[in-house]
Amino acid sequence: VSRMGRPLLSLTLLSFLMSLGSGWAWTTPDCTIADSSLLSNISYYIPSCPLAPGLHLFASCSNVSDLAQTLTALPRRLEALCLQGTVPVLPADAFGHFPTLQLLRLQLGTLRITSGAFQRLDQLQHLFFEHPTPCCLSLLLPSDALEPLRFLNSLSFQGYCLNSSQNIQLPLSLSRLTLRHSCLTDLQELQGLFPSLVPGSSPTAISSPWPPFLEVLDLSANMQLSRVGVKTLRGLQLHSLRLDGTPLSALELLASGLLHLDSLSLVDTGAEKLPGNVTAYFELSTLDLGRNQIQHIGDEDLSGYHSLEHLNLHANGLHSLPTRFLSALPQLQRLNLSMNKLGPTLALPEGLVSSNLRVLDLSHNELSALPSGAFSSLPQLEELWLGGNNISNLSSEALEGLRWLKTLDLSWNQIKVLKLGWLSSLPALISLNLLGTYIENFSGRLLQGPQKLSHLWLGSPEILELYPPWPLTLLSLEVWAQSYIQFSVPHGKPFQFLESLTLQASYVLLHPGNNTVHFPSLRHLTLRGCSPGIFSTHKSQRFFPQLHSLEHLHFWSYHGGTEGLQLFGLPRLRVLELGNLDSLSESRPVNLEVLLEDLPQLEVLALSNLNLGNLSVSSFRGLGLLQLLLLNSEWALGLDSSLQEFIPQMPQYVYFSDVTFICQCESSWVGPWAARAPNTFVYGLEKSICMANASDYFKTPLLSFLSGHCPDNLELQSFLTSFTLVVLVIIFALLGCPNWSWLHHLQALFHAWWRKLGGRNHRSQYHYDVFISYCRQDRAWVLAELIPALEKPLPAGEGLRLCLPERDFGVGQDRMETTAASIESSKTILCVLSHQALGSPWCNLELRLATYRLVAKPGTTSLLLLFLEPIDRRQLCSYHRLARWLQKEDYLHLPQRSANWEAFWEQLRRRLRKAVQEKE
Ligand SMILES: *[C@@H]1O[C@H](CO)[C@@H](O)[C@H](O)[C@H]1NC(C)=O
Ligand SMILES: *[C@@H]1O[C@H](CO)[C@@H](O)[C@H](O)[C@H]1NC(C)=O
Ligand SMILES: *[C@@H]1O[C@H](CO)[C@@H](O)[C@H](O)[C@H]1NC(C)=O
Ligand SMILES: *[C@@H]1O[C@H](CO)[C@@H](O)[C@H](O)[C@H]1NC(C)=O
Ligand SMILES: *[C@@H]1O[C@H](CO)[C@@H](O)[C@H](O)[C@H]1NC(C)=O
Ligand SMILES: *[C@@H]1O[C@H](CO)[C@@H](O)[C@H](O)[C@H]1NC(C)=O
Ligand SMILES: *[C@@H]1O[C@H](CO)[C@@H](O)[C@H](O)[C@H]1NC(C)=O
Repeated sequence: VSRMGRPLLSLTLLSFLMSLGSGWAWTTPDCTIADSSLLSNISYYIPSCPLAPGLHLFASCSNVSDLAQTLTALPRRLEALCLQGTVPVLPADAFGHFPTLQLLRLQLGTLRITSGAFQRLDQLQHLFFEHPTPCCLSLLLPSDALEPLRFLNSLSFQGYCLNSSQNIQLPLSLSRLTLRHSCLTDLQELQGLFPSLVPGSSPTAISSPWPPFLEVLDLSANMQLSRVGVKTLRGLQLHSLRLDGTPLSALELLASGLLHLDSLSLVDTGAEKLPGNVTAYFELSTLDLGRNQIQHIGDEDLSGYHSLEHLNLHANGLHSLPTRFLSALPQLQRLNLSMNKLGPTLALPEGLVSSNLRVLDLSHNELSALPSGAFSSLPQLEELWLGGNNISNLSSEALEGLRWLKTLDLSWNQIKVLKLGWLSSLPALISLNLLGTYIENFSGRLLQGPQKLSHLWLGSPEILELYPPWPLTLLSLEVWAQSYIQFSVPHGKPFQFLESLTLQASYVLLHPGNNTVHFPSLRHLTLRGCSPGIFSTHKSQRFFPQLHSLEHLHFWSYHGGTEGLQLFGLPRLRVLELGNLDSLSESRPVNLEVLLEDLPQLEVLALSNLNLGNLSVSSFRGLGLLQLLLLNSEWALGLDSSLQEFIPQMPQYVYFSDVTFICQCESSWVGPWAARAPNTFVYGLEKSICMANASDYFKTPLLSFLSGHCPDNLELQSFLTSFTLVVLVIIFALLGCPNWSWLHHLQALFHAWWRKLGGRNHRSQYHYDVFISYCRQDRAWVLAELIPALEKPLPAGEGLRLCLPERDFGVGQDRMETTAASIESSKTILCVLSHQALGSPWCNLELRLATYRLVAKPGTTSLLLLFLEPIDRRQLCSYHRLARWLQKEDYLHLPQRSANWEAFWEQLRRRLRKAVQEKE
């Protein structure tokens, strides 16, 4: 390389390295990128979009106008993408960037789609075109546009007119087609739109070797769909048809040419009679007639229901059932009669025993009394829903004969007392819901009878006192009360296998107060409204002393006193959602440093309305595994400049929702960071505002304040510079030595850093205890004094395995590579510093390598500085930016008077011992 070429080359290299390390911009204004597997509740905080089960990584962008620009900023491995905005034309190969896309939801206004628009979407399963206001925008879909989608499973058009599109070829894999809020008036139009689906008598039909088949055809909410036409659906094999909210008369379907249909949904169609003829004609197994006006059913209406297995009559104003009802529906398995007027006394029709009914929903029917043996004609019943009625008395006789009942819902009734043995006739019960009842003293004895009760909900308006014994089979428990919940726990481990616990009350108490409850298997804990005392700093007052298995903690307090909170004894906690529901409280700022001190496994941290004050890097020390950080509903939040030290470790997802910042230049690194965050998805800064002081009501956008009022962000610049400066130093050093195959070394070095930055240190790889870095000028002291004191076997020395570059690097080994490798394989680094050392490029390099290690694993003693002579701290700080990372004990000063030497050696050995032990 010629001398002239070198600077150019290194500049190129530098920009290459920058792009590797920190130049990747993920933040896109108006886009949310999130992984819903990390925080299932994420849509509560940030704009999200409805996903399909099993999909996790999604991007949801609003206000899209330049499609290409929006898409380039999104990660390639997206599974779901939702776009909202105005894009008139979808160009060819618009989404080729995202080969793993499985769901695509487009809300782009009037839209013309180009033929190859969906090229390369091999894995797409769900495609939705949506327009929010009802009918209708125009959508032009070329005939072959869907052809590349070989695995398309569901296709949906909502709020669009498809008049101008014709002859759309549907992929064979399609099983669900939806046209809602369209301008469809006659089913006949489907023939022209999708000839392959509805060959009918259409002349354009292409004969296909496969009979057209659809699982679901959803034509709901087509307000003008009133005609069916004769034989329009002939040839279509259809499992389920939904015509909810259309003015279509069900009887017309008889002439449609459809031969098979399993399931028909006619919700909210104004029907006043059961559509018996249609049911009989198709031999329907599922019929949904929710929200109609079928107030009366006569015996004469009941012909033709022999095949029906599922019937939904939700919200019809039904007063009674005809006596022949159950015998006329011999196959019935699920009957939904919720929100009718069957009360106050339940009179299930007599007659034949229904041996098939498994699920009966009688919720919200104004029922007051359940006569004895009310359900004895339903011996196979597995689910009984009686919520929202007026039941006050429940005897075991009422539940007689339900030998197979698994689910019993009695929530929101007037039950005040339950008698012992009331569940004795329900041996198979698994889940019992008693939320919203009036039982204030609940003894575990009331649960005797069922052998496998595992899910229990209890709730009473004011207080709830719980007494043992509790069934050992319990896996989940949810308890609500307004003021307090009290657990009486004399002894033992009553909740041995409980995995999930939800408590909603102002206070949770123990009786007697000096007791403890153990939840050895608890993995999910949700607390709503509870006083933070439940996790009080005082061990003796803590409700949960230790929760060794806890992985998820959702804690919504309502007391504003979260500052006393400390979470310890939670070694497995992965997800922490913490919020204060009291939006008006003026509590003192929460001390995150204390709160999060002892949560080594934390991956998700969501904080709401906690009055966090100023965040600094110390708040997040030790959270090396954090992947998602969410700050919600914060007022006057400051982001300290020290936080930028955290950047290399910043979680992958950082969200600010509804956060008002302080207008301060300390935060000026935030803008450049959000735009160039290395591998971090930042959301919410563009829309955030800041305020100068408490009485500042001007809505100043945060980013424009920072760019307008703060001088160039020297801090971040210097951070990025220091991040890459070392690279430059090396490059120049290497370029100065033409014999070195510098690229190779650079690669080795980078590899080593990368592993460190990623925190992927391998445990058992330590060959040395201490790497000693010093420069030639200080060598005499190091060899004569330091080495013997540390290396000699006990008791004369400390018996440590030392690595000295000069001694331990083999002849001919390249110093750069070996340095990086040796630092990696040493438990700690001791830098011997003097003015001369600071001037030496090698010492600098070693110091810097150690610094990066420190950044990657803060809180551990990775680096000790030993000053041979007094050095102005600032000289060190400004250059190496180490001060923030080192604890005070990590600086050692060689005493100037020999009287203090003993103490010095003792201190040095103690620090080194600690550092070595930490790594073990
Ligand atoms: C989601 O967060 C809201 C916030 O109040 C809470 O009410 C709700 O229970 C949470 N849901 C889950 C599933 O955690
Ligand atoms: C959408 O973007 C335009 C500029 O492209 C902007 O003027 C408008 O305010 C944005 N609308 C919303 C709701 O963000
Ligand atoms: C589509 O058809 C509907 C009803 O037939 C009609 O009202 C509407 O004007 C048509 N739109 C276009 C763009 O042809
Ligand atoms: C239903 O079918 C019966 C005979 O099966 C017929 O008498 C009756 O008229 C039909 N009802 C309607 C509305 O078509
Ligand atoms: C009964 O139907 C209503 C309305 O469709 C639904 O919300 C409810 O979950 C159904 N009940 C059961 C037990 O499926
Ligand atoms: C509920 O039942 C009680 C008697 O048990 C009765 O006084 C009350 O009116 C009923 N309420 C309703 C809404 O039916
Ligand atoms: C709790 O206090 C009671 C007296 O209030 C005492 O009898 C009992 O031994 C104490 N139990 C424990 C575990 O300290």
